[in-house]
Amino acid sequence: MTNQLMSPSNPIDFTYLSDFFNRHRLNHASRLILAALHEKCQRQHGDLPRWQQALNDLPSINQAWLKVTDNAINLTGASQTSTTELREKLMAFKPWRKGPFRFLEIDIDTEWDSLAKWQRILDLDIDFNNKTVLDIGCGNGAFLWPIAEKKAKCVVGIDPMWLFYHQFMVFQRYAKCPSIAFLPLGIEQIPTLALFDTVLSMGVLYHRKSPLDHLLHIKQLLKPNGELILETIVLPDRQNTLLTPKDRYAGMRNVWMIPSVSVLIDWLLKTGFSVIQHSPLCKTTLDEQRQTPWMDFYSLNQFLDKHNDALTVEGHPAPYRVIIHAKID
Ligand SMILES: C[S@@+](CC[C@H](N)C(=O)[O-])C[C@H]1O[C@@H](n2cnc3c(N)ncnc32)[C@H](O)[C@@H]1O
Repeated sequence: MTNQLMSPSNPIDFTYLSDFFNRHRLNHASRLILAALHEKCQRQHGDLPRWQQALNDLPSINQAWLKVTDNAINLTGASQTSTTELREKLMAFKPWRKGPFRFLEIDIDTEWDSLAKWQRILDLDIDFNNKTVLDIGCGNGAFLWPIAEKKAKCVVGIDPMWLFYHQFMVFQRYAKCPSIAFLPLGIEQIPTLALFDTVLSMGVLYHRKSPLDHLLHIKQLLKPNGELILETIVLPDRQNTLLTPKDRYAGMRNVWMIPSVSVLIDWLLKTGFSVIQHSPLCKTTLDEQRQTPWMDFYSLNQFLDKHNDALTVEGHPAPYRVIIHAKID
């Protein structure tokens, strides 16, 4: 199976995964995940050759080293390539949404300051030490690096978007972090086996048509006493309220339900979790999410009401977010 993933029509190398799964006692999931990757690789995606080429065009770097600092996920090392050339090579992977990253001397100023969200996770003092972690909807893997640095035994990121897989590989091809794997798959393709100590679902719940089924699915992925870190948009409302936007929410087409925190907690209780703690409500600011030269599509600024930033352009409450730390009963 693993060799077939390396066929000429599919140059993406997932052969390391069998060893990764063995090392981290995830072998029960190995066969089904490799089959899902194989199946995905059979389907054509028009941009794959371009992104593969862009990865191959990246320069060699001596003494590469990746570290998460206060203001970036930072790859250092020595290369002969000029700054202008390097910037152009990295721009080939636009749009860059999650980060920010620093690649040698280039600052990749992403749409989101994901380290602000990471700081809110740190404030909850969650212990990742020696944990087997799954990050559902991990984007380009921005959170995989700080979780690995927190000494997780291993961290698996899943996201179905091929672009995000390639953005992750821009760094992993140098960092070669042995405790991280990125699977370009959706949650539906992950076998429901209780393999993980900690599951993160961040920025995903409001995109699920059935949020309770998403929570039940996560429960099946967790070992006994497993923990969930659930981050999502909520209504800034203390009552039991729920918004089901008929059309878009803050410009996003695929938003199904936005609960108040109390409804969200009811959903967790109903699906067999108990809440350990939650973060304060946090209004998404234009410092945390904005258009940049690395992501030049519309962003939050264009999706808030010009005269009242408490509302979205559609007239809904502007996005607030919460992180809930829960465990299975
Ligand atoms: C709003 S982003 C959140 C990214 C990141 N977790 C964060 O908090 O910044 C939602 C992510 O979910 C991913 N996604 C969409 N459908 C998915 C699915 N079926 N399974 C897993 N992830 C999915 C998207 O590609 C996107 O990267």
